[in-house]
Amino acid sequence: MELVFPEGFQWGTAISSFQAEMGRGKPSKDTDWWAWVHDPDNIKVGRVSGDSPVDGPGFWEMYDDDFERCRSELGNNAVRLSIDWGRIFPEVTSGVEVKVKRDQHGNVWDLELDDSMDSLHRIADEDAVARYREILSSAARHGLTPMLTLYHWPIPLWLHDPIESRDTGGNCEANGWLSQETIVEFGKFCAYVAHRLGNLVDVYATVNEPRIVAEHGYLTERGEFPPGLNDPELFLRCLKHVSMAHGVAYDQVKKWDRAEASAYGPSYVGLVSVLQSYVPADPSEPDDVRMSRYIEYVFNEWGLNAVFHGDYDMDADMVVDPEEQMPYLVKGCDFLGVNYYSLWRVKHRKDGGHPLLSYGFEPCAGDCSDYGWEIYPEGLRSVLSWAYRRYRRPIFVTENGIADEKDERRTRYLRSHLEQVHKAISQDGVPVKGYYYWTLMDNFEWSDGYQIRFGLYGVDPDTKRRTPTKAVGAYREIAQNNTLII
Ligand code: FCB
Repeated sequence: MELVFPEGFQWGTAISSFQAEMGRGKPSKDTDWWAWVHDPDNIKVGRVSGDSPVDGPGFWEMYDDDFERCRSELGNNAVRLSIDWGRIFPEVTSGVEVKVKRDQHGNVWDLELDDSMDSLHRIADEDAVARYREILSSAARHGLTPMLTLYHWPIPLWLHDPIESRDTGGNCEANGWLSQETIVEFGKFCAYVAHRLGNLVDVYATVNEPRIVAEHGYLTERGEFPPGLNDPELFLRCLKHVSMAHGVAYDQVKKWDRAEASAYGPSYVGLVSVLQSYVPADPSEPDDVRMSRYIEYVFNEWGLNAVFHGDYDMDADMVVDPEEQMPYLVKGCDFLGVNYYSLWRVKHRKDGGHPLLSYGFEPCAGDCSDYGWEIYPEGLRSVLSWAYRRYRRPIFVTENGIADEKDERRTRYLRSHLEQVHKAISQDGVPVKGYYYWTLMDNFEWSDGYQIRFGLYGVDPDTKRRTPTKAVGAYREIAQNNTLII
């Protein structure tokens, strides 16, 4: 059977700056993530692997060859990449004055920085701006429409000292997303990027996966993401602020990018959310059933309700009280990016005092990836349909992929998930506009380093030579023909 995708469907891969850029050329050392993965205590207790992003695939210099592969070997017409805030503004921008509007509780809801662009320009690292301009021009030369993610996790060290935040429980000055000052500085960064790169980009993803940033940073026993805390109140505060950051970024990009680079122009701005399948570990156990629904609500829904409806359920009790409704924080979201990987079986555990401290996930027992993530293609269709029914925006699958070092399951994973995307489009009427496989080549998988291999290409750590996995040919055939044959 031939499953034909809609005309103009975007076929791509996704990468992120911290994970893929380093390995060749100038490393990016001025971020919280850099400090985090090199901290001796973190390495000693296993919060992080001890690997360094500096041994990465070297996209910073090899982008042209990589895009050539995307075009000629993968038959792609799109690519998703991110821009490193710490490269553009290694120096503090807080001294640049902008007009900040806040509500009566001090929540930031608007920025005006008309007179500040020159000051930002004086602070920005011009070489980094120039390099991103070359990277984006190369994408265009290779016929790849770029989607640029503005925040894919590292933030400048001057805004977030993750070690101090870890050691003080978040009570320090540079405490990242716990403070709304980070939203203000992010707004400046987004305005500047849109101003300087806008003629080369139309499609922007403001924030990658607010929930993962908040969960792995502030609701974690292992402490794997900066700043490695475990406190539901801080988790919710971070989730709130990152959701608000989307709105501020949306406004700034719309304002500062007036140049058309493609049919999406001048700007098409969305949020990337990670939506997973959650089921009770034991469906006959009412506590597991309740907990599974609760986790689905907090992890999949909470952030989207904030961005789309202005509902900030700060006590996460599944009821939005009048004082938790802040409709003026709703700015816009032209599309929704959905990252989907797997199914999670939720277990109610001993009462930890807060529901967010009283759950766990069963270890994967069935069809599992190297990461221990359960493979469940049908879940992709259901989250796409669910998200579209509720939020009514065009959708891109902005990440989907598998850690599979032996290269045994990647092709099956890709094909089975694309079949579900097609069902979502043809049977459920979901306007899915594109699909980006995570990821182009093996890269630095955050706290787990290089052992986890999602790449369509393997990478030799010394020569940086890329070796195709079996899925490369399979993906090319699908992308080039805009058709999946099953
Ligand atoms: C997602 C991240 C991406 C990568 C994949 C495996 O949560 O957005 O950077 O780590 O998981």
